[in-house]
Formats: sequence, C-alpha cells, structure tokens
Amino acid sequence: MSVARYFDEMSYGPAPEADAEARAWLKKHAAGFGHFINGAFVKSADDGHFETMEPATDARLARVAQGSAADIDAAVKAARAAQARWARLSGHARARHLYALARAVQRHGRLLAVIEALDNGKPIRETRDIDIPLVARHFYHHAGWAQLQETEFADQVPVGVVGQVIPWNFPLLMLAWKVAPALALGNTVVLKPAEYTPLSALLFAEIAADAGLPAGVFNVVTGDGGTGAALVAHPDVDKIAFTGSSEVGKIIREKTAGSGKSLTLELGGKSPFIVFDDADIDSAIEGVVDAIWFNQGQVCCAGSRLLLQEGIADTFLARLKRRMGSLRVGQPLDKAIDMGAIVAPVQLERIKSLVATGVAEGADLFQPKMTLPENGCFYPPTLLANVQSAATVMREEIFGPVLVAMTFRTPDEAVMLANNTRYGLAASIWSETIGLALDIAPKLQAGVVWINATNLFDAGVGFGGYRESGYGREGGREGAHEYLKPAAWAKRKPRAAAEPLPQPQPTADGFGLPQIDRTAKLFIGGKQARPDGNYARVVLDPKGRKLGEVGEGNRKDIRNAVAAARAAEAWSRATTHNRAQILYYIAENLSARADEFTQRIVAMTGTSKVKAAAEVEASIARLFSYGAWADKFEGAVHQPPLRGVALAMNEPLGVVGVVCPDEAPLLGFISLMAPLIAMGNRVVVVPSERHPLAATDFYQILETSDVPPGVVNIVTGTAKDLAKTLAEHDDVDGLWVFGAAELSTMAEKLSVGNLKRLLVDHGLAIDWHDRAAAEGPILLRHAVQVKNIWIPYGE
Ligand code: NAI
Repeated sequence: MSVARYFDEMSYGPAPEADAEARAWLKKHAAGFGHFINGAFVKSADDGHFETMEPATDARLARVAQGSAADIDAAVKAARAAQARWARLSGHARARHLYALARAVQRHGRLLAVIEALDNGKPIRETRDIDIPLVARHFYHHAGWAQLQETEFADQVPVGVVGQVIPWNFPLLMLAWKVAPALALGNTVVLKPAEYTPLSALLFAEIAADAGLPAGVFNVVTGDGGTGAALVAHPDVDKIAFTGSSEVGKIIREKTAGSGKSLTLELGGKSPFIVFDDADIDSAIEGVVDAIWFNQGQVCCAGSRLLLQEGIADTFLARLKRRMGSLRVGQPLDKAIDMGAIVAPVQLERIKSLVATGVAEGADLFQPKMTLPENGCFYPPTLLANVQSAATVMREEIFGPVLVAMTFRTPDEAVMLANNTRYGLAASIWSETIGLALDIAPKLQAGVVWINATNLFDAGVGFGGYRESGYGREGGREGAHEYLKPAAWAKRKPRAAAEPLPQPQPTADGFGLPQIDRTAKLFIGGKQARPDGNYARVVLDPKGRKLGEVGEGNRKDIRNAVAAARAAEAWSRATTHNRAQILYYIAENLSARADEFTQRIVAMTGTSKVKAAAEVEASIARLFSYGAWADKFEGAVHQPPLRGVALAMNEPLGVVGVVCPDEAPLLGFISLMAPLIAMGNRVVVVPSERHPLAATDFYQILETSDVPPGVVNIVTGTAKDLAKTLAEHDDVDGLWVFGAAELSTMAEKLSVGNLKRLLVDHGLAIDWHDRAAAEGPILLRHAVQVKNIWIPYGE
C-alpha cells in the first residue's frame, strides 16, 4: 500500500502485543496444571484433566486438572486448617499480605494481561488498561479494610471457609472481587474458576505463593460445573459466593437450603440504557459502545437494552450504525482492536441462535460490513432495532455483542420499560437535565445506576443486583459485610424443642352466659378482615384453658395481604422523618396500654408479671430505637478514583414477609416488624403461632398511630403453611423467618422463584432482650438493599 493511501484511509495496521513471556510460562507447565492446594500445585486425585483452548485461534492452550469431590475435600481441609490462624493474625498483618498481593499483581501485570487475553479472547487493551489495574485496586482497597477491621468491624467476626465459584467473562477481576474482601477480613478461600478460563487464577496462585501468602489461605480447584457443585455441597464450607448465570445461581440457592451456609449471588442482567432527547448524543453513542461492545458484550451489567426517546431515535440509530462500522474486531493481542473473540464455540452458537430468534420475531438486524478473522470464535457488533417488549431478545440475556433497541415517549414510560424485566443489575441514564436524571434514578429497580456513564466499577463502590440479578454486594463497606457475621450471633444455640401443647381444658359447664365472640380477625390493608376459609384456631394458655380464638389464615389471605402491602407503596417513598414520627407514635400508644399487654403476655405464656412487664418495656424502647434509626441509618457517598461520586443509597426491599418466633411473643414481633417499616418496607407478618394474641391486640395500636393502611398486615395461622405461601409468592421481595429450623430450610428452598432476599435463623435462638443481638444495624442491614448511583462530579 502506498503512503498516500495510508493517509487516505487512516486505517490501523496490526500492533501485536508480545506473547513470548506468556508462552514461556505455558511451556513451563506443558505437562499440565494441577490444582493449587495448601500452597502447592497437586495432581487431581483421579488424574482427571481437560484442555483449554484459545478462542481467537481454536489452538490448544493448556492441560488443566479436572477437580473431583476428593480434590475439593482436600482444598477445603487446607482452607479450614489455615483459617483460625489467618483470622488470628492482626488486621495489620493481613493488610500487609493484601498489599503484597496488590504490588505483585502490578509487577506481573503484563504477563497476567496477556494470559487473560489468550485464554478468554478479550482485547489486550481491556485486560491491560481495565481488568488488571482494577484487580490491583481491589487488593489495595481491601488491604485497607484489613488494616481497619478491628475498629471498623469490631462487632463482627469472619465467616470462615468460603467457597467461590466464578465465571469466564472477567476471570481475574472476578477472582479479585471475591478473594480480596474474603482474605482481608480473615476468611480462607477455595476458588473454582470457570472451565473456559482457569489460567489467570493459576498464575495468580503462583504469584500469591511467591508473595508469601501462607499455605492453605487461598486454594484453587479447577474443573467444570460438577467441580463447582462439589464445592457447593461440601459440608465444611461456611459460605458460597457465586457469580454466573441465573440458572446456576438458583440451583445453588436450592442446594444450600438448610445447610446453614451463607450465600451471595451475582447473576445475570438485561440492563437498560436510557437516552432522553436532551442527552449529549455523541457521548451517549460512545456510552453504547462501552455498554455493549466492551468485552464483546459478555458483561453481566452490559447495557443491552437501548431505550431511546422517540424524537431522537432515528438520528441516534443512524449515527450509532456509522459508529459500529468503525469498530474493529480482531486478534485479542492486537493493541488496536475494539473487540476480540467470544469465549467459546457454545457461546457463539447461543448468540447466533438468539439473534436468529430476534429476526424471526420481527426485529430489524444491522451488522456493519467487516471481515472477521477466519478461525476462532468471532461475532460482529450487532443491533436489533424495533424490538417489542415481549420479544425473546428483549427478555433473555444474550451475553454477546448484541444490542436490542426500542423507543419510549415519556419519562414514566422509560421507567416502566426499564423495569419490565425479572433482572435488576444495572441501568444507565443519559440526559443533560440533572433534575430528570435524578428523578429517574430512584425509580429504577437496579443495584447500580450510572448517570451519563456506563460500566464504571471500583473496589470501593458496592456492586450487585436487585430482584433476580442476585443478592449481596461486592466492593466497599457494603461488600465487606458479606464476609463477616455478627459476633453476637456467632454463638447462638439451637432453640429448645417446644413444649408439647397442653391438653385443652373445658371452660364452661354450659349454664353461664354464652361467651362473647372474641375471635381476633386478620389485619389486612388497615382493616380487620375475616379469614378467607372462615376457620378459627383456639389459643390456649399453658394450662390448656382457652384464651381466645384467632383466624386461621390461608394462601388467599396471604395473597390479599401481599396485595395490600404492594398497594401501600407510598410508604417506601415517605420521608424518613415521617416514618420516625410514626414509630414514636406507635411506641407512645403501646406505652399507654402497657398494663393490658403485660397481662396478655402473662396469660399466654404463664411467665411472671415482672418478666412480662419487662418485655413490654423492651418493646416500647425498641420502637423508640427504630424511630431513632429511621432517619439515621443512611447510605454513603463513595469517592472512586474516577470523575464522579457514587451515592450508596439504602433502599427498602419492598414487600417483606415476616414469620415470628414463639418466644417473646410481643418483643419478637416488634423486633422484626419495626426495623423493616423504619426502612420503608411494607410487611406481612405471621405472628407467633402459639401466642398470637399480643400481635392481634396490636391492631388497635396500629389503627390509632397513623400507620397507613397496608404498611403492616398481620395474618395469624399455621406458621409452616403461611411461611410456605410467602416463600413461593413472586410478589414478595424479602422474607424473614425466625422459629423452627425446618421453616428456614423451607424458606431457602422455596424462595428460588424470584430469589427473594432472606434472613433466616436456622432454628438458632436469639435473646430478644439482648440489644447487641436483636436491635440496630444487625437487622437494619437486612432491611435494605444498597443502590449505587454514579454521578459525574467535579472535573
Ligand atoms: P454458568 O453459570 O454455568 O458458569 C459459571 C460458573 O459456575 C462456572 O465456574 C461453572 O463451572 C460453575 N457452575 C456451573 N454449574 C454449576 C453448579 N451446578 N454448581 C456450582 N457451580 C457451577 O455460566 P456458563 O454456562 O458459563 O454461561 C451460560 C450463560 O450464563 C451465559 O450465556 C450468560 O448468559 C450467563 N452468564 C452470566 C454471567 C454473569 O456474570 N452474569 C457470567 C457467565 C455466564
């Protein structure tokens, strides 16, 4: 080509990154990689192995061990053996280890970047400039949490041995997101990388050992989904942290039910990218490029649904198509390309088949003319326009470089379309009107919202989903809590088995006046309601004498209560001041009737008057505490090293079911209901099955305390049946279950449908009078989910 033509075309020539060092490292391990267990590489117990391929060329890259249950067991044993010593180190000592890891990642940054690009197929420009610097940042940031742990998390202890299962789209970055906080806070780890991309984790293990990380603290077992399943099933793992598909996330939720393991899930998404007609169009178009063609669109929070305001749609799409034509797809090690290879043939086939479905369902397909490399898994940047909201490609995560587009007219319609998905991971808003953007942000069901930006990440800012995008946060203070548990809950004992119900005693000989009907109804939508089935259950005192009757609530009653709670949505938007006042008012009204409640507790439980009075006093104080917290349990402003800040907002979960324990029938009820409503949730409460009358007496207090109808709904009846209905109900956003262990297990198993947020006690008793164990942030943290809203700020 002549020099003149080069100037005419201004096209890039190839600019390959050197891979000699990476190839030499692979050659050193040509005999095959073992698992990294207890500080050394070891062969698979059954010598199982598989091959990893280079997606850009189809060439074989390495031979890797296929982990069996025996390998997982060896790794968990190593992690367990190391955990107590690791946790006993001072925070400062752990901070030094994390700092050493951060430095080592930086020192080996180029090798890590090349290995990652070879194994995954992503452009070196991204691994070098985004993935690896962020990996180092995660270790630096979390070195800081280790250093501060003793003062900042004084009331918490490490979870223990953590099993982590990660996907292939950001192999080393996902490792860092999980490993850095876990190790920083005193846990040890068994990591199962994705089968397509195990190499950077193995290289990291080598680097970590060189950097002096003690043996057993960090272990890697490679393998496929079966290896992951063995880790999930291992009885000596205290927590599972998973990132990957929603399908597997749900399987893991079910498999861990009843095991006592804690669980965080970071799953898929179908994130909206909303462009208003007053947006800076050039910036928004570059935003789309980052949203959906970064990492070939294999990003859980990819802005894959483009929502365009009608007036600008035609211009926007025309300019976008032009921009798509200038994207370069090519060899990952070429420093001048925009998109590399898709991770594996099976993923490529999935993308092709979903695009074909989109076209068959009527979408307009656009792909720029370009020549793709002959070998390897490549797919061009793709736009499907005019897609209907019910279309498969609008609903399903494609996980490839495919953008689907549709239009909207008004901001309200934009919000409706944006939220019209079972997911809730991220969203991006583009408008030059700050008022509009900040009006939309709180209305979006998403754990991360970017304003005039997209795909920004930082170790200090929590990341994670709403709804079926999973639960838990990674990064920042909010993420640190996921690797800690309250010290006050660490030594709980299983509840004593309930005393058998007393034999009912006859109460009248039939000659006195007939008893006045004292059947307490249900409390739904601010009104007392007869139970749907028209059955009542008798409430006995400890001697078997009849104290009264309550409604036997059923599935339909729960449905009505959930509908009433859903309709009381204004409560979630009420000011914190307003909610605080109402909680104080409830406390005041309870105080006015303290004697009556004391007598009720004595009659129901047979406890002494002094103890019953103490329970009522503690309940009043607890209501005051949550009145206090209502306007004080606030979010934070994160200051990531980027142009902007992130507002970490504590948002309510929405509608939350609560199943109360039998002990402390009034204080238990208040201790669970109050933090939830203080944070703006609406609740459907199932009071103590055995002693429900304190809760049914409470209706009158709610009625006289200005609690809006539907904010607190109470359904009495059989805890097991009502808990089951709540767990299965897809319009319930959260569920708190306290009581028999089997109720917790059932709630965990049956809540997979919409992955509702759970707080369960696994049958372990809490002393409701102990404020450290039963009041404040320990519960408030579970009553909210953090939404991080990134806004441009400063220069
Ligand atoms: P996947 O969810 O099957 O794999 C993620 C990880 O889980 C891998 O390490 C895998 O070995 C492991 N795993 C698989 N089955 C398991 C089980 N039963 N128990 C424990 N661990 C198990 O994702 P896959 O098959 O690689 O990709 C399929 C689709 O999932 C993609 O097309 C994409 O839509 C979605 N995906 C979403 C990701 C996200 O970050 N949201 C990441 C990866 C995939």
